[in-house]
Amino acid sequence: MMTFKDQITQGIPSELPAIKAFAATINRAPKRKEILSKDEKELAIRNALRYFDAKHHGVLAKEFAEELKEYGRIYMHRFHPDYDLFARSVDEYPGKSLQARAIMLMIQNNLSHAVAQHPVELITYGGNGAVFSNWAQYLLTMQYLSEMTDEQTLVMYSGHPMGLYPSHKDAPRVVVTNGMVIPNYSKSDDYEKFNALGVSQYGQMTAGSFMYIGPQGIVHGTTITLLNAGRKIAKNGEGLAGKVFLTAGLGGMSGAQPKAGNIAGCITVCAEVNAKITKIRHDQGWIDEVISDIDELVTRVKSAKEAKEVVSIGYLGNVVDVWEKFDTENIYVDLGSDQTSLHNPWAGGYYPQGISFEEANEMMANDPELFKVKVQETLRKHASLVNNHTAKGTYFFDYGNAFLLEASRAGGDVMAANGIDFRYPSYVQDIMGPMCFDYGFGPFRWVCASGKPEDLEKTDAIAGAILEKLMQSSPKEIQQQMADNIQWIKGARANKLVVGSQARILYADAEGRMRIAEAFNQAIAKGDIGPVVLGRDHHDVSGTDSPYRETSNIYDGSKFTADMAIQNVIGDSFRGATWVSIHNGGGVGWGEVINGGFGMLLDGTDQADKRLKSMLHWDVNNGISRRSWARNEGAMFAIKRAMAIEPKLKVTLPNLVDDSLLEDLF
Ligand SMILES: NC(=O)c1ccc[n+]([C@@H]2O[C@H](COP(=O)([O-])OP(=O)(O)OC[C@H]3O[C@@H](n4cnc5c(N)ncnc54)[C@H](O)[C@@H]3O)[C@@H](O)[C@H]2O)c1
Repeated sequence: MMTFKDQITQGIPSELPAIKAFAATINRAPKRKEILSKDEKELAIRNALRYFDAKHHGVLAKEFAEELKEYGRIYMHRFHPDYDLFARSVDEYPGKSLQARAIMLMIQNNLSHAVAQHPVELITYGGNGAVFSNWAQYLLTMQYLSEMTDEQTLVMYSGHPMGLYPSHKDAPRVVVTNGMVIPNYSKSDDYEKFNALGVSQYGQMTAGSFMYIGPQGIVHGTTITLLNAGRKIAKNGEGLAGKVFLTAGLGGMSGAQPKAGNIAGCITVCAEVNAKITKIRHDQGWIDEVISDIDELVTRVKSAKEAKEVVSIGYLGNVVDVWEKFDTENIYVDLGSDQTSLHNPWAGGYYPQGISFEEANEMMANDPELFKVKVQETLRKHASLVNNHTAKGTYFFDYGNAFLLEASRAGGDVMAANGIDFRYPSYVQDIMGPMCFDYGFGPFRWVCASGKPEDLEKTDAIAGAILEKLMQSSPKEIQQQMADNIQWIKGARANKLVVGSQARILYADAEGRMRIAEAFNQAIAKGDIGPVVLGRDHHDVSGTDSPYRETSNIYDGSKFTADMAIQNVIGDSFRGATWVSIHNGGGVGWGEVINGGFGMLLDGTDQADKRLKSMLHWDVNNGISRRSWARNEGAMFAIKRAMAIEPKLKVTLPNLVDDSLLEDLF
């Protein structure tokens, strides 16, 4: 029996491993649309076989052709490792480079069966958020990481490890690109084709950059969003008690909604069509109750409203049924949103009303045209029902899943009177952008590489103490953010947020991120805790250019540019990131967004201290500069403050124009 370390270092086994039988309980990816011509299918097989010795080609060619027929992709299931995939302690990975070993831990977390959405298809979340396209890529990458030194960099092209290249110890150990295609070839069918050929993949945001930390990552963002949405609708400063939040999706990211609803203190009703996913979330305690009868749901919600209960209720069924029923039953919805995977509407991201989950899966593979018609019909109805509710007073926001975009493309009534904007704001336009990102607050996160819960507890205490200290001298503009985050970190342990690696998320600005990281590094140097991996969601101040989401509150016409995200990853890479990544697509769909991220290992050394200060400062202030240049008020304030703190920072500031001067010009 080979040890775990031996299995990692051997890479792709020289003899064919046994064919795998996967447990029926594993949540499998739907069959992908058939998109390749006969010649292209041959090309896909030829591409897949290049990972293997020619002596195996006879067997594997037939097997891969079968996979292509059955799943629409070649996952190389036979090569799924025999060991369990999960985040082990960093000490358990083989290798010469601690940084590389930390990356292995993060990769395995993203593929863990407890964490990933479709683990055997290497999909972490969002329906198609891939870490790799096939198991050969995984095996080869782990082997490279196990043999590399701190004088080498691993280069990854959309899941494919191109190889190790000589570099230097301050260079990133891994550079990841995902889905970077020539812009004119960035339509969703282009993605389907390139992915089926095995030459490109959709990395989502943190899936393809190994930085996913389970639904906790988004629980915090969702909690902040709900709290601030609650503040927007509060008439007399009251909280969310007894108010209803109606939404959909219990998947990778969307599964965070009920938990966030409980932390924010409202009644959450979250519809989900997939029974397996619903059960997982219920078993994990991320949703309190599950109801599959719509009348029972109505009775339950009425009683929860009356008793002002804090409760999350999963409805096993289509969300459009709930919007419809609540409309006819006159159940007032205070806050409404949606987090189905509408960045991926034709391949399982959004399920049409009136047909079963199983029938829908069959239809999307066997009759994709009819499936598209059904999805668009449902979207139009969905939009019109939301309109009925907002006419009664519901505050509805787009949750960054391209709901409004796809509803508009389907002909749904979601456009504003000017025909350009949507009639509802995205949560970034109204909440996240002006209240958080413009001030530099974003989803900073860390993972304790020792795998010890007590390390996480110590880091929580360190981070909480730093924030409390910083809050004493914070300007009034960011006091609310600081207070929300102090409350979050104090309650984080009790809220049992860890799924997978020992990870924590916290919204912090540049100053907060740097001070917290610095204190972690000191604690590591003293031996109080083991090494820590720093990172963040791509959904942040500077990492992502996405005109309908992260940069939707940029109003100087530049929201369709992607200079910020590209500058960010380049800047991070030479300021000390341990790995960097840049992706096409993520959140709102292929071709709709460019987003990037980083990971940084803190090992208690002076070099780590230097790197964290240099890189985190840039990683936040780049985006504030751009937001300030777009004349966003909070960002102009924040960048001036940053310049006052760091004299080496000198940013071009906009001159504001008196609007009356523009009135009669044209
Ligand atoms: N707001 C944010 O910060 C943020 C962050 C990350 C992702 N997202 C976006 O949110 C979306 C959801 O992400 P995810 O990772 O949870 O995806 P997911 O695919 O894991 O989950 C979506 C769930 O919605 C369910 N669903 C689809 N149609 C439905 C319907 N009509 N009624 C009820 N349930 C339905 C699916 O079965 C699925 O389980 C994606 O588009 C993603 O890009 C938003």
